[in-house]
Amino acid sequence: MFNTRVKIKALLAQEPQNQEVTVMGWVRTFRNNQFIALNDGSTGNNLQVVAELGKFDEELLKRITTGASLKVKGTVVPSLGKGQKMDLVAQSIEVLGDSDAEKFPLQPKKHSLEFLREIAHLRFRTNTFSAVFRVRHTLAFAVHKFFHEKGFVYLHTPIITASDAEGAGEMFRVTTLPFDNPPRNEDGSINFKEDFFGRSTNLTVSGQLEGELGAMAFSDIYTFGPTFRAENSNTTRHLAEFWMIEPEMAFYDLEDNMNLAEEFIKYIIKYAIDNNKEDLEFLAQRLTEEEKQLPQDKRSEMGLMEKLDFVLNNNFERITYTEAIEILINSPAYKKKKFQYDVKWGIDMQSEHERYLVEKHFKKPVIVTNYPKDIKAFYMRQNEDGKTVAAMDILAPGIGEIVGGSQREERLEKLEERMAQMHIPASELWWYLDTRRFGSVPHAGFGLGFERMVQFVTGMGNIRDVIAFPRTPKSAEF
Ligand code: 4AD
Ligand code: MG
Repeated sequence: MFNTRVKIKALLAQEPQNQEVTVMGWVRTFRNNQFIALNDGSTGNNLQVVAELGKFDEELLKRITTGASLKVKGTVVPSLGKGQKMDLVAQSIEVLGDSDAEKFPLQPKKHSLEFLREIAHLRFRTNTFSAVFRVRHTLAFAVHKFFHEKGFVYLHTPIITASDAEGAGEMFRVTTLPFDNPPRNEDGSINFKEDFFGRSTNLTVSGQLEGELGAMAFSDIYTFGPTFRAENSNTTRHLAEFWMIEPEMAFYDLEDNMNLAEEFIKYIIKYAIDNNKEDLEFLAQRLTEEEKQLPQDKRSEMGLMEKLDFVLNNNFERITYTEAIEILINSPAYKKKKFQYDVKWGIDMQSEHERYLVEKHFKKPVIVTNYPKDIKAFYMRQNEDGKTVAAMDILAPGIGEIVGGSQREERLEKLEERMAQMHIPASELWWYLDTRRFGSVPHAGFGLGFERMVQFVTGMGNIRDVIAFPRTPKSAEF
């Protein structure tokens, strides 16, 4: 039986008073043939196990190498050394799994994040990644806690769908048809009637449309699941498979939507600070070290903890898209032609523009509202001006867009009209349109990109380092 072991996090919280315990974990380092730094992933802190000289077999000691797994029984005593409050003086050591020191890719030294990405199957065993993924867990838990406390229903929307919720055509097809010789119609096109679902299907890009159906019965729902986008964006902010949280609320307008999004973001950040302080402090330290490599003007003005506190204690700036464009056009950056892409009303802001607004101009998260309808999805509520829609994007320092949302078009004719203009086939979305036929109500919702949120909280610069096994163009290892 293994379950009598104590986890290192729980043990380190105790006072050392000669208690006899069993621990299990992986060797991080083994110094002077005597001191084992043991880690079991419950905390970033290692337990110092002392193998007293002369007490253990040479053959056994040779097998205590970085990466090996051990079961250790011993006595907990106050540590004589600096840096830890307790030692576990080993009575017995059992090697559960050997790790050939010559072959184990993780050496007890600093590895680059790029290298660790190539061995993502082992990178959880590093300080940085174990901290990131504990924080990710806490944030995920906080998401559920926040919505549960507010009485939202967690709705599991489908992964395989026949619709394109965003209308952007960035979908991965799901099919069982043979590639070499698919059944064809008379005109040569592929006959999807013969496919598994009797129609063409794809992985979902968003659970929103189904989420809206739920909101029309439960009032408030949220989804939290994987979404897939076949966009060929090789950036530090894009994944082909990412997790999204999408709340959808009946009887909400754009302002209610903004208020909820801001409260939500602050809640989960606070929850992580309250519950993962050590990991966050470690990551803050890591970021400061990393930024020392950069020229002074490229370094963050605030440390990670400071930044998170700042976000908690300040209101997000709220501006319209039109105001944002004016700020950009009047900016020194624009006048000095520092932007690569031109700025004028109607553009889809590039990340350089978003970053200017957030990092240079306001220096805090910004909610931009009322975007031009032509750069936003078909379901957004049309404003009276005929040009804009009740959209909202939240832009975060260092990340750019972290949330996209809107009040939805609840008026059937307006929605049908917009779908026709944008060539969205109404016949395929008959079920979506039904919500506007039977008891339609003003409603709104948003999507938070979970990995971008984890990046924001952990300070990790590349989105591939906050999801366990990233899927990006030309990369689907592990
Ligand atoms: O702005 P998006 O495309 O909005 C929607 O999907 C809406 N259906 C949401 C809603 O209103 N219910 O995506 C929402 C968020 C973005 O703000 C971004 O944080 C994240 O999802 N996101 C991505 N994250 C990682 N990789 C990608 N390729 C992403 N695309 C969007
Ligand atoms: Mg968006």
